[in-house]
Amino acid sequence: MALVKISSVGIGVPPRILTNHDMEKMVDTSDQWIQERTGIKQRHIVDPGTTCSDLATEAARQAMEKAGLTPDDIELIIVATNTPDSPLPAVACLVQHKLGCKHAWGFDLAIACSGFLYAMQVGVQFVASGAHKNVIVIGVDVMSSVIDYTDRQTCIIFGDGGGACVIQPSTSEADGCFIDFLHEVDGSGGEFLCIPAGGSAHPPSKETVEQGLHFLKQDGPVVFKFATKRMPEICVRLLDRNNLTGADIDVFIPHQANLRIIKSAVERLGIPMEKVIVNIDQYGNTTAGTLPLAMDTALKEGRLKKGDLVLFAAMGAGLSAGAALMRWGY
Ligand code: UT7
Repeated sequence: MALVKISSVGIGVPPRILTNHDMEKMVDTSDQWIQERTGIKQRHIVDPGTTCSDLATEAARQAMEKAGLTPDDIELIIVATNTPDSPLPAVACLVQHKLGCKHAWGFDLAIACSGFLYAMQVGVQFVASGAHKNVIVIGVDVMSSVIDYTDRQTCIIFGDGGGACVIQPSTSEADGCFIDFLHEVDGSGGEFLCIPAGGSAHPPSKETVEQGLHFLKQDGPVVFKFATKRMPEICVRLLDRNNLTGADIDVFIPHQANLRIIKSAVERLGIPMEKVIVNIDQYGNTTAGTLPLAMDTALKEGRLKKGDLVLFAAMGAGLSAGAALMRWGY
């Protein structure tokens, strides 16, 4: 199997910002509580009419241009999202059309916050097998479309946005490459983070809307416990099977769900905070969007450099978790 690298990163973030002080006017909360319990200061929220595919297309366009590619070069578009423009068609098809990628096929993959890493492994396999050379992997969510802005435990966490990567064959480890992926799901925990209605179990109806069953429901403390246990555990298993420890990692890019979850994972992994990318204060939790957004932050802050050994970690609805190891190549 050929080596596969990330060649570029682009982002799609709506300009409108909702600060914690704005949230104080919407629910019974405070800037102090939100910052202390989550690390979040603000999140970006779309204006009416801006869709998941708009953000995905912007991210993909940036990534494509940074990689020096044109729409004709793109062969496959994979979009990780749980908040598509509509149930059908797939966001990947909308991005393909909006970008004018005449030769690309694509599909969506839905596993919430773990989506970007899962989609990345799928994309990597298409490149590693030799099937494709230029693949765009996107992680993006418009969480504001499924959030109940009267539910203070949930609404303060989430934001809209995401990012995209171009992945291509690599010539050597020095050129950058993925080293390993590890994923797991525990479907017994599905009820703790879910959108109850809108699917085949409870098709949308007047009753489901009146009961607010089309909104995201979360048992925050249960998900918190899952995250603090399973996210570091899966990282340790991935590091172990590659004969590595946290001390070998140059940059840790974790899912941005809660700063306390990140700090607890980092402590268990033995990675100093200066090697950890955190931007939850700016974006909140953008679900499938957090990892590409964090990569962009790391690049813009000059904290992700050629040759760095990078560990990614994700966890979310499912319940699900994932981790990836790679050598950064540019
Ligand atoms: O990407 C995966 C998605 N989700 C997650 O990763 C979420 C993981 N969970 C969390 O991040 C945390 O559980 C939350 C941030 C959601 C909640 O924080 P917590 O420290 O677990 O709070 P809690 O739910 O245990 O509530 C503690 C108190 C309660 O008040 P009482 O009963 O002690 O009087 C809540 O009613 O905090 C109250 N509370 C709030 N107070 C002010 C809950 N939300 C708020 C709020 N503002 N927004």
